[in-house]
Amino acid sequence: MKHWNTRYPNRFDLESDADYKRWRDEKLAAYPGNVGDLVVELGDMTAITSAEKNKIKELVELANMCVYTAGSADLSMDSLAALGRQLGVSHTDKSSRHNNSDELTDSGILNRAIPFTTRHVRWHTDATYYGSDKTIQALFLLCKQPAVEGGSNKVLDQEILYILLRDKDPEALGVLMNRECFKFKNPKTGEIVENLGGKVFWTNPEGHLCHRFSFRKTDMAWSDDADVVAARNVLESFLLNDPEHVIEGRLESGLGLISNNVLHTRETLVDSDDAAKKRLLFRTRFYDRVNAC
Ligand SMILES: [Fe+2]
Repeated sequence: MKHWNTRYPNRFDLESDADYKRWRDEKLAAYPGNVGDLVVELGDMTAITSAEKNKIKELVELANMCVYTAGSADLSMDSLAALGRQLGVSHTDKSSRHNNSDELTDSGILNRAIPFTTRHVRWHTDATYYGSDKTIQALFLLCKQPAVEGGSNKVLDQEILYILLRDKDPEALGVLMNRECFKFKNPKTGEIVENLGGKVFWTNPEGHLCHRFSFRKTDMAWSDDADVVAARNVLESFLLNDPEHVIEGRLESGLGLISNNVLHTRETLVDSDDAAKKRLLFRTRFYDRVNAC
């Protein structure tokens, strides 16, 4: 482990450069170059060894994510929850949501919300609608059945995006870290929910960087203050230009993603017409995070 959170506690403080610069240089030098560098092979995701756990924690420190193999475990929601418990995350948002909302398949549920279709999903973190004071910090996936074609994900560590912004446009980053940037808007009624708003980047009480963003507009009411509009434009143009360090890969059957809710896309896919062969990924989202300390 690098122990960046204890060695460089002020790396997300825009007022001080010393920790930031040392951490940035180490982080960029150690950043995984491709999806292969992110893989941890597990013998059984429901009973991981201490060596496997250490490898996961090391990669999550480097990139806020890793890709794992399920090993001999069943490819099921229970296995995904068991993996979370072993990594210290168990506080999910499942009970407050639709029963099948963590089965990513072309089911058309939730008024054909985009995760449950075959369409391209643009850059986002999950669950922006909760606001920044009760955010989803971890996102886990497990693939049971991939699409016939397509359906890969691009992923981008929010700490890399922070570094790109801090080096190229610190003023925009300052706005995204300090201002109330967007609130939840009920897509059916257009009503704006005042207490479900907040920042785009911020640090949690343990000093880790949290991030919430989506290109989706249906349930997001962005501030129209000029500095927020300008900062949002900067962030969006970074993402639209496929920044360095974006990694792309497809979760095949028996592969999964452990992440601290990193930015991700889902590319367009072609699904099977056979109901028994439809693409199916299990997803679990947690209010807590991997490597919390
Ligand atoms: Fe997502």
